[in-house]
Amino acid sequence: MAAGKGSGAGIDHQSPVPKYSQLREILLDLVETELGADQAIPSERELSARFGLSRMTVRQSVDHLVSEGRLYRVQGKGTFVARPKIEMPLRLASFTEDMRARGLEPGSRDLDRRTDAASAHLARMLLIEPGDPVHVIERLRTADGIPMAVERSHIPDAVAPGLGEEPLAGRSLYDLLASTYGVLLDRGEQTIEAGIADPTDAALLDLPAGAAAVLLLQRRSFVGDRPVEFAVSTYRADRYQLHVALEVPRTGR
Ligand code: GLP
Repeated sequence: MAAGKGSGAGIDHQSPVPKYSQLREILLDLVETELGADQAIPSERELSARFGLSRMTVRQSVDHLVSEGRLYRVQGKGTFVARPKIEMPLRLASFTEDMRARGLEPGSRDLDRRTDAASAHLARMLLIEPGDPVHVIERLRTADGIPMAVERSHIPDAVAPGLGEEPLAGRSLYDLLASTYGVLLDRGEQTIEAGIADPTDAALLDLPAGAAAVLLLQRRSFVGDRPVEFAVSTYRADRYQLHVALEVPRTGR
């Protein structure tokens, strides 16, 4: 096994740094400098022989990198380098725009399209009356064919009359709103929180049943003061991360 350019790499058995932690750094270096996405790392047996470590120690290091989303295991096949995560956009971008900007092919599959009477909650979110008709659009969003998110959009009929009849497969909702209804979104707000995928979303997103972590998004998009879309989305936490620039508070230092 090549050991990663930066590490010079071996285990220092005299060091106070725990051995699993030293091996984690060696593996991280290997992942970052030598192996590409979906390439296999050496087996646990090879790692334990090469570095003179117990299988338990090796497993502990690999487990860490798996839980951080840097590696993934395929039963019976081995452990592989995960693709780098996608940065969650902090702009009012459509899924289609965002994927294209990254050189990925956006895709979407309709899961459900219906027109509901607004519940009290939805009416508050969309600043309409309870009972007003709202188009509900549930879609599985894919990037290069890989499931990334389940998105559930709610759009008042008053904003886009007859939206329920418009085909959306392979189309951008935001483009459709702009081209057919002249709705040009100019503002948005979004909350992002950690959650556990419910069994339906886990299956759609190819996540293991049980306790797969996801990012739950709620977005309201506006034209002026008028809410146009209220969307509740489930994004794969193993594929997305948040990256924010930090500024020193003006009053702080
Ligand atoms: C993002 C937002 C959704 C929005 C979607 C529109 O993914 N989270 O709220 O519905 O973009 O994407 P598109 O125009 O590609 O259909």
